[in-house]
Formats: sequence, C-alpha cells, structure tokens
Amino acid sequence: MATINKNYDKLAAGYLFPEIAKRTNAFLQKNPGTEVMRLGIGNTTEPLTHTIIRGLQIGVEKLASVDTYSGYGDEQGDKRLRKALADRYEKMGVKLEPEEIFVSDGAKPDSANIQSIFSEDSVVAVQDPAYPVYVDSNVIAGRTKSFVNGKYEGLVYMPCTADKGFFPDLPSERVDLIYLCSPNNPTGAVATKEQLKMFIDYARLTQAVIIFDAAYSAYISDPTLPKSIFEVEGAKECAIEINSFSKDAGFTGVRLGWTVVPKTILTAGEDASKLNSLWNRRQTTMFNGASNIVQEGGLASLTEGGRRECQSLVSYYMENARTIKEGLEKLGLKVYGGTNAPYIWMKTPNGTKSWEFFDKLLNEAHVVCTPGSGFGPSGEGYVRFSAFGHRENVEKAVKSMQDNLRL
Ligand code: MLT
Repeated sequence: MATINKNYDKLAAGYLFPEIAKRTNAFLQKNPGTEVMRLGIGNTTEPLTHTIIRGLQIGVEKLASVDTYSGYGDEQGDKRLRKALADRYEKMGVKLEPEEIFVSDGAKPDSANIQSIFSEDSVVAVQDPAYPVYVDSNVIAGRTKSFVNGKYEGLVYMPCTADKGFFPDLPSERVDLIYLCSPNNPTGAVATKEQLKMFIDYARLTQAVIIFDAAYSAYISDPTLPKSIFEVEGAKECAIEINSFSKDAGFTGVRLGWTVVPKTILTAGEDASKLNSLWNRRQTTMFNGASNIVQEGGLASLTEGGRRECQSLVSYYMENARTIKEGLEKLGLKVYGGTNAPYIWMKTPNGTKSWEFFDKLLNEAHVVCTPGSGFGPSGEGYVRFSAFGHRENVEKAVKSMQDNLRL
C-alpha cells in the first residue's frame, strides 16, 4: 500500500505566487473588464535581446543538420558555458574551475534541490522573510516539525528587521545550513562584504554551509557591494552559490541557471570535494542537462554584446524600481530596497496586515503586490512590489495608487 510523504501536509499554505494569482483571478471574476496592474511576482516582461535571440536561433539551426545535431549533453552543462561562467567570475576576481559550476534549468529548482545533499537531521537557518522555496523544500524533506503560530518548529528563523537594515544577526544556536539571499528577495536589501564575512567566519568556525542565492546580483550597481559571496575571503571553504539567467537576461520562461559548488568546502568528516561530487551525483541521476538550445542563448548572453544588452534590460527594470519607489514615497509610505535590487519592500500603513493590504490595494487601485507575510513571520506588516513590469503598466499602477488608494 502506497503512503504519501506526510511532510507535504505540514506545508502551511499553497505556494505563495499561485495563491496570489488565485486571489487576483477571483477579483477579476467579480469585476470583469477591470484592468489589473501586476507588480506581484518577479516575472520579467521585456523581450530577449537581439544577441540572445541569435544565440537561440543558432541552437535551433544546429539541430537541423546531422553534422551539428546533439542529443543528451553533459548533465553538468555545456563545457563552453561552464567556462564562460568561470570567466565571468574571474572578472570579479573569483577563481573557479568550470567543474565547480553546474548549469541547470534555473535557480528555483537548484535552491529547492540543493538541500538533498545534506543529512536529514541538518538544522536549517533562513533569513526571515525569505524566498519561500528554501523553507518549503526543507519542510518537504522532513527537516521541520509542524507549523505553529506562523513558524515551522525545528527551523531557525533569523529575523531581518528594518532597524538592522534587513540583515540578520548570527544564529544564537548551532545550525548546519544557512540560506542567505543578496540582493534580497523580498526586502531588496544588499549585504555588504563585512556582513557576509561575519557569516563566513561563523560557518568556517562551526563547519556550517551557506547556501547563497545571488539570482539578483546583476541589479547591484554600487561597486562596493559584492555580487558573489566568493568575492569575500573564506567563502570557498563554506559556501554554495546559486544564480540565474532569469532576472539578468530575461530567461524566466526560457529557463537556465547555475550552481557553484566549490571543491574546497569543509563538511564534518569528509573530503573537501565531497559536496561537489554529491551535487554531481544528484544532477547526473535526476537531471538530464539544460536544453541545448537554451544553453546557446545563455552563451550568447555572456558575450560582450550580450552583456551590454542585458545591462540595458537591468537599467530598464531599475528605472521601474525608481518610479515605484518614488511614487510610494510621494504617498507618504515607508519603502526600502529598490536601489541595488528590483524589489521594493513597503511597510503597510496603520499596522495593516499584509494580506489585508493586498486586498485593499487590489480593490481600490487594481494593483497586485506580494504580501510580506508570505515570506515569513517577520514579513508581516509589509508588502513587496516587483519592478519587472512593462513600463506603461508600472506607470499606470503608480498613478492608480496615487489617485485611488485611500490611506
Ligand atoms: C519572486 O517573485 O519572488 C520570484 O519571481 C519567484 C521566482 O523567481 O521563482
């Protein structure tokens, strides 16, 4: 008799973004014909650049001829792409072997799957609020107990509050895995080198591993802020980094990402290369490699022309971020993030709960945001706005909030 994985029953709610879509659709059913402006999920809207389209076309054309056709590729990714990524790190002063870089179909699956190479009894610490995948994947894997008063028992929440610039203190108890995300989803805060160093020193001292999500690193324009944790001394001994072509090159629907597992990470009683070989084992068993067409597009995005074009995509979204941030500030609202990150984190007025404000915003201004409480208990009383919209839609949303939101 088959029995289910009961850990799924522990999950507190449906996954955040489908839940938002459900509520938005319910609103549209009740108010047919209403134009809704979506600043909820961080879903890109602008077309792929010329160089990337050409790269994808090359990928397609190769499949049309017996001489250039390819079937299964390396599960770890096309060697040229792994090398191009290593070169990109080298430009940041980070030396990595291509064998330490694993190409995948996106940062979301990697950030959900990476926990599988650690022991079941690992104690997990997450920033609170955090991208829900880190928490949910560990709940499903059985590393937590029940959901009580907004928290999973057994999970270590590291509150990220306004008074501390939305960066956490070190955990006060022993933890084994630490998820950090910078630029942060959802708060838009960016960790400094000193802040990351504090966690790196802690991880090295306690043989914990940091899982660093750098999916939004392309949005950092301040040259003093690190785009990779490996820019900080000691990180290659204790950190795994996950990144994406989604937010940088517009591959949200195309799907491509990568994970760096250095061969120098220290874990209890194992060789330094053990985690790298475990992730290799996991990927070769459960993944057949990213699409060959898509990898050609990824390679094109890393050429000089591709980089320049992606930079202009990033600037476009950052102009949206400025528009949203200033628009909300003009309404007298307290906002954070949005300068080196594509997310704007807003304190809800008058102590309104996150979902209550979500409903109010949708009903009064027809704008969709993401309720902060969906990212963890410390997100309560906040909402997140995404800058990934189309400009016209973003401007309409800001105008509608200014004209219609009753504060
Ligand atoms: C978000 O809105 O937080 C992200 O777009 C979700 C994702 O990248 O999976």
